[in-house]
Amino acid sequence: MRTIAWLMLITFLASAPVVAQRLSDQTSAAAKAHFIENLLRQMTTEEKIGQLRLNCIGVQSPREQLLEEAAASRLGGIFYAVGRADLREFQDAALRSRLKIPLFFAYDVIHGHRTIFPIGIGLASTWDTGAITLAGRIAAQEASADGLDMVFSPMVDITRDPRWGRASEGWGEDAWLSALYTSTMVQALQGSTLGAAGNVMASAKHFALYGAPEGGRDYNSVDMSLPRMYQDYLPPYHAAVKAGVGAMMLTYIAINGVPATSNTWLIRDLLRKQWRFKGLIISDFNAVADLVSHGVASTDREAAMLAIRAGLNMSMSDTLFRDELPGLLRSGAVSQEEVDDAVREVLGAKYDLGLFADPYLRIGAAKDDPADIHAETRMHREQARDVARKSLVLLKNQRNALPLDKSARIAVVGPLAKSRLDILGNWSSIATSAQAVSVYDGIAHALDAPDRLLYARGADVTDDPRILDYLNVPGANPADVEVDPRSPTRMLQEAVDVARQADVVVAVVGESRGMSYEGASRASLGLPGYQARLISALKATGKPLVLVLMNGRPLSIGKEHDMADAVLETWYSGTEGGNAIADVLFGDYNPSGKLPITFPRSVGQVPTYYNHLNTSKPPQADAPRAVASRYIDEQNGPLYPFGFGLSYTQFSLSDITLTRQSLKRGEVLGASVVLKNTGQRAGETVVQLYLRDISASISRPVKELKRYQKILLQAGEERTLYFNLSEEDLKFYNAQLEHAAEAGAFSVMIGLDSRDVKERRFELF
Ligand code: BGC
Repeated sequence: MRTIAWLMLITFLASAPVVAQRLSDQTSAAAKAHFIENLLRQMTTEEKIGQLRLNCIGVQSPREQLLEEAAASRLGGIFYAVGRADLREFQDAALRSRLKIPLFFAYDVIHGHRTIFPIGIGLASTWDTGAITLAGRIAAQEASADGLDMVFSPMVDITRDPRWGRASEGWGEDAWLSALYTSTMVQALQGSTLGAAGNVMASAKHFALYGAPEGGRDYNSVDMSLPRMYQDYLPPYHAAVKAGVGAMMLTYIAINGVPATSNTWLIRDLLRKQWRFKGLIISDFNAVADLVSHGVASTDREAAMLAIRAGLNMSMSDTLFRDELPGLLRSGAVSQEEVDDAVREVLGAKYDLGLFADPYLRIGAAKDDPADIHAETRMHREQARDVARKSLVLLKNQRNALPLDKSARIAVVGPLAKSRLDILGNWSSIATSAQAVSVYDGIAHALDAPDRLLYARGADVTDDPRILDYLNVPGANPADVEVDPRSPTRMLQEAVDVARQADVVVAVVGESRGMSYEGASRASLGLPGYQARLISALKATGKPLVLVLMNGRPLSIGKEHDMADAVLETWYSGTEGGNAIADVLFGDYNPSGKLPITFPRSVGQVPTYYNHLNTSKPPQADAPRAVASRYIDEQNGPLYPFGFGLSYTQFSLSDITLTRQSLKRGEVLGASVVLKNTGQRAGETVVQLYLRDISASISRPVKELKRYQKILLQAGEERTLYFNLSEEDLKFYNAQLEHAAEAGAFSVMIGLDSRDVKERRFELF
């Protein structure tokens, strides 16, 4: 009896801080609710509707008009405006309004603000949550220092289709990894409290399934079963909610026929009821008006009605809420309660952001405004270089082509070698290309005798007039895709001449940044333009050939892979990209990145995601003539598998040891392997653990990532790595959408990529 009493006391004391925390959370939630209800009671209908508008300066809304609307309390927030002086003017206007409700300011800060970090798919290649945290923290601090309160990120859409141009922005094809990265980024951006300068509200996007458009064509629709949604596509959005994301942006697309913007099931049932999301829900740009093109609303009025009824809180860019909600309220088609609920969320976001306490929290005082907004002192180059190095993925390295010798005569060739614009990637916020380091610059900095460095452009990224016409906005300077006035043959000849004089050729090829962007889907995945011909000509010189790829999506570059001695995937690596790439090329940094998305051999194979089902007739290596689920005119399997990436050292993995062969629910299964650095230098690698449910009520993937460890080992060093698994890891969504683990045989696989794995079996009882 006495023991039990003691146990109860200890349990009570141990839980006391938790109870205190919960009480203080409840008190602050009550204070917030009280504040908001009090304000809401004082607001007119017009003022309420104003809060539901997130607008930018544009043709529809000139600056003067927005200032007037802010002063009249007819605006909730502003996006696309940056800079403390500018935003202060808007906030001053808002504070002249009757109720002095502050505005909030948002921007597309996706992978850095002034200092640009690698694009999403590059950050995902680090397999390093510390690197993602660093990139997120700095983006938040720089954005906040420019007066911004909210960022339209992270972009967490899973994609299995590299034709989609926005594959560049997300975390790749795996749900588990993307969920991990998403919560990491949300926490990094928002910090420990949203109400402090230096922290910004994250707005995860694009809810939901935006990365799965049919045919990889942007904005196209999605038709997907619920188990697949829950299992493979929804986890990152859910992770954002669990991490406390302040806002969620809806996708443009229609899901099983219903556009997200008017999708009651998506917003009310899934996001609000099932996931208990408490934050702000915003539309994508003009998406309310798009309901008419979707063909679910016949008028603007109907579009506004559907969106607000479905649970949208704030509409981005269009003026439909302003123009249509008053009439909809008068006619009773929309209830006061529906509008009030949306307003509560906008006010709640401003409250959480600390804007009612101090509307100038992030804008600061005029006397503290920076004299030069682009000042070097406002940048974080060292951190950007560090993260960029981690994002580079070595895909091939034969005959020790890499690292390069600094005393060698190096020919740097290719249309992207000197580009400071492309290396920033798309959505590069307000960074200037003048402050970016190109690959050529980076190589030159690293050399003691840069006069031994040769250069030729070799080709344009593309000569396709359709693409140029689409990407090069008239009057833009610099043009998105630069076109050399010389003929392709002349450029090629120059490159060959330069290559012949060199000891080694580094060809920097790929896509211009605009080719891997919103609205930039591709039907082919090869190197565009004359770049493939350039690679063949360089190969013919017989010089060692190193490909430095710059692209936002997996490319099908089988031929170029065969010709090259080394291939380094660099994505768009940001402000310090050139220096980071040089660090890897010369071996000052040993590459450790791994692919978060599969590279197909050819576009016809798409999708090639690693966690596919086994099918009735899986291809078998020892029976190549047997009928099987494959193409008869293409080699089976990907060019580079998910999780793949080399190092300048080598690693070996032992067989797997399991602590038990059978697992009861509630028990833990330990799996261990010995990792050894068998090469000549220190290096890092990512040890990946996959699971397969051999037989279940529905067919399950051939493998699914469940854990990984990124490990640094000195030459010759070995270490035993332990992974703990439980019933939770074996759960999946069955046909009834129950999340449960089914008894039976499982396989645990551990490898340094998703293709080459060790395997052991166990049973769940
Ligand atoms: C994109 C969003 C972006 C928004 C505002 C839209 O077209 O889909 O990702 O945040 O524009 O720039």
